[in-house]
Amino acid sequence: MSARLSLTRHGPDDPMPLVLLHAFPLDRRMWDDVVADLGDLPVITLDAAGFGDSPSPRELAEALNRPLKPSLSSYADAVALTLRDAGVDRAVVAGLSMGGYAALALAERHPELLAGIGLLDTRAAADTDTVRAHRTHVAEQAAGSMGARAVAPMIDQVLGGTSHAERPDVVEKVRGWLAGAPPSGIAWAQRAMATRPDRLAALERLDVPALVLRGAEDAQSTQEDAEAMAAALRDVELVVVPRAGHLSAVEQPHEVAAALRRLHERCRRP
Ligand code: MLT
Repeated sequence: MSARLSLTRHGPDDPMPLVLLHAFPLDRRMWDDVVADLGDLPVITLDAAGFGDSPSPRELAEALNRPLKPSLSSYADAVALTLRDAGVDRAVVAGLSMGGYAALALAERHPELLAGIGLLDTRAAADTDTVRAHRTHVAEQAAGSMGARAVAPMIDQVLGGTSHAERPDVVEKVRGWLAGAPPSGIAWAQRAMATRPDRLAALERLDVPALVLRGAEDAQSTQEDAEAMAAALRDVELVVVPRAGHLSAVEQPHEVAAALRRLHERCRRP
C-alpha cells in the first residue's frame, strides 16, 4: 500500500496546477461540474485519506510506518507528500469546507507549496466546545452500528434553500454521496476537524493571491467567517455566490469555476 493519496489530473500538464480539496464526508467527485468548466486549465483533484480511492488512515499509517493521528495537519502533510511525489512543487490550492481547513493547514505547514489559495465555504476559526462534542458523537456513531447513517442529517445543512426547493437532482446526488460515505473516513475526519486550531495567523503570513468564497445561503460558514479570512489576506477577492448554500461548488458550479479561474490567472501574473 502506498503512502500517497489518490489523485486525478485534468486538462493540460502544467507545473502550477489548481488543486481542489473536497468537503466532508464527500470525495473528489464533488468537483466534477467545476472541473468540466475548467477544461483548459491544469487541475488536480484528490481524495482525503479514507474517502474515494485514497487509502484509509490505517493503511496510510502502515505505509508510513508511524501512527497517523486524526488531524488536519496529518492530512495537509499527506497532500504535500502526494503532490511532491507527482512532481508538483508549487500549486494554487483551493478547498471547500473541510478542504479549506486542509488548505489552511497547508498554509501553516507548507507555505512554499502555495502559489495561491482558495478558501470556499470554510472558516479559519477553531470549533467551539459544543461543535467538538458533536463531532465526537458523530465519530462514535459512524464507527459503531450507524455507519454512514450518522451523516444522513447533514443533507438539511449542506444545501441551501434554493437547492432544496428547486434542485431535486442536486438533493438526490448529495443524499447518495452521504449514504455512501465510508464510516472509518467519517470517524477519522470528524476527530481531525475537532482538533484543528485557529489558523488565521497562517493567512496573515501568506503573501500570495487568494480567493475567499461562500454560498449566500451557507448556514455553516458565515459571512463573518469569510470576512475575517479576507481581512487577514493581502491580495484577496471575496465572492458571495447567490442561490448556493454550503456546497457552493455542487450547487452553482459555473460561478465557482469562474472565481477559481480568476484566482489561477492572478497567480500566473508575473
Ligand atoms: C464540510 O462540508 O466539509 C463540513 O461541513 C466541515 C465541517 O463539519 O466543519
